[in-house]
Amino acid sequence: MCGIIGYAGGGRNQEVLDVLLTGLSGLEYRGYDSAGIALADEAVSVYKREGELENLEALLKETDVPSTPVGIGHTRWSTHGPPSDRNAHPHTDDGATVAVVHNGIIENYERLREELSELGCTFESDTDTEVVPHLIRHYVDEGLDEEGAFRKAVSKLEGSYAIAAVFRGSETIYATRQDSPLVLGLGEGGNYLASDVPAFIQYTDRVIYLEDGQFAVLTDDEITVTDGDGQVLEPPVKRIEWDAEDAGKSGYDHYMLKEINEQPRSLRQCLRGRVDELEGDVTTEELDELPEPARVQFVACGTSYHAALYGELTLRERGVKAQTFMASEYDRASVPIDDETLVIGVTQSGETADTLRALRQAERAGATTLAVTNVVGSSASRECDYTMYIRAGPEIGVAATKTFASQQTALTLLADAIRDAEHRELLGALRDLPDHVQSILDGSNAREIAAEYENAGAYFFIGRGYNYPVALEGALKMKEITYKHAEGFAAGELKHGPLALVTEETPIFAVVTGDDERATKTIGNVKEVEARGAPVVAVTDGQSDVERYADHVLSVPETHDRVGPILANVQLQLVSYWLANRLDRSIDKPRNLAKSVTVE
Ligand code: F6R
Repeated sequence: MCGIIGYAGGGRNQEVLDVLLTGLSGLEYRGYDSAGIALADEAVSVYKREGELENLEALLKETDVPSTPVGIGHTRWSTHGPPSDRNAHPHTDDGATVAVVHNGIIENYERLREELSELGCTFESDTDTEVVPHLIRHYVDEGLDEEGAFRKAVSKLEGSYAIAAVFRGSETIYATRQDSPLVLGLGEGGNYLASDVPAFIQYTDRVIYLEDGQFAVLTDDEITVTDGDGQVLEPPVKRIEWDAEDAGKSGYDHYMLKEINEQPRSLRQCLRGRVDELEGDVTTEELDELPEPARVQFVACGTSYHAALYGELTLRERGVKAQTFMASEYDRASVPIDDETLVIGVTQSGETADTLRALRQAERAGATTLAVTNVVGSSASRECDYTMYIRAGPEIGVAATKTFASQQTALTLLADAIRDAEHRELLGALRDLPDHVQSILDGSNAREIAAEYENAGAYFFIGRGYNYPVALEGALKMKEITYKHAEGFAAGELKHGPLALVTEETPIFAVVTGDDERATKTIGNVKEVEARGAPVVAVTDGQSDVERYADHVLSVPETHDRVGPILANVQLQLVSYWLANRLDRSIDKPRNLAKSVTVE
């Protein structure tokens, strides 16, 4: 899950370098262990540096960089070999006649490396990628032309990859993909390729999503797409409906804060045209033909898994048999999967390898598959029988925020497409949801709470029912951006072990919305932790009397019991953000993480 950019721009000027650096900054969320570029002309010049893009930019500033007609770039999330200059991409063959960038994992690289070493190739890095340029060169030496050598080399690879290559003395980029994303951008006077659209959205909004097994050849005035047999294809050209402004920080210090603040808008987009509150109807045209399943299985990872847990509850409440699986554990789930099963992959990026694998397993077993995703043209959307878009707009911060709220909302609507229910009140609450989120954003005291508990030893989050996934998500957000120890628990589980961890040093965030039996029981759990001296922060809509037992309160507006948890999560996002901010963490690019996890 690295980021790839390529630009064939024709004239020899500064443009190629600018496009590559802009592209890399738009892709840094995919990995930031190192960054590098290769510029091709009469020679292939490679510049790369461990660490974030600014290290590469500093190197380029002090170097006399040639102007070239074509170039490729890469930002890395390490899989084979630690982050270092040596392991940074692009990689070249001996003598640098070809340079390659790669996203994914080449599973048979050890054998290929042995064979190539026996042929006399020298390897400079620990990466799996480095076999690719050597392999291409080998086939060039055997007499194949550039494209032929590229195709033949790719035919020897096993695993997942998006690959782009440039050659010495050539103005062309060659690219292909298998289980890793690659999108082509059609510009005026130049053409682009990248792992994701934000890399080149400021230059063009006309794109082609390359499919698995397809090849692309880019020059400044032409893009040719072919299938595995070399047959020329005419893939559809799509228009991206958001612009560079949407993908920028718009004056916020961090993408994460911007994206938290964008939630009223992204939720409006998610709901637009789908809810008719007067008629009491939900319209999801894309799901009109969805057959009523005997059972539903959700597969997802991380934050999306938490959204899926929420989705599972909405279905169970309607009497639908629903279960949620961590996508990476689905192959060991031993559950019935057949043509009466609907398997829903919840995945913001639509590219998460674990989720795609689970969806493919479901498809092979005859299930109907449905992607709930944010990314138009993503692998999940292309491979599944049905797709429901959450329409959150681009999310660049590595920690998922606005997409979680939009997933919860979309899954609430999706429940209707699976089984109807009387829900006029719920639809009214959904109508008010964007405004309610706005009121939280306008009046939140999360920043003060973050300051109050900056030095805590650990942070625990508890909730029941729909608030349980919110507790899990609150803890995940906290650990990933503050690097502090945080755990989320079903409130009732606390006394079965975790209570041993509770001390005066461990604030408890208790998510209590509504005033039903679940709220009463969670208040019981709050009293248990209070008795052990733990400070309590209640996230509440004020319907219950949890405030009486809390040291601090994060308020959310009173609303439907399905919608309150979506609001509560916004407060928790803000607490994590402000705590990470105080601790001066790398909020948009937390250590060791990347936005799109395209390895299993
Ligand atoms: C956490 C986070 C990750 C993702 C997970 C799945 O903030 O972003 O846990 O939720 O990697 O990603 P998607 O939704 O793209 O499948």
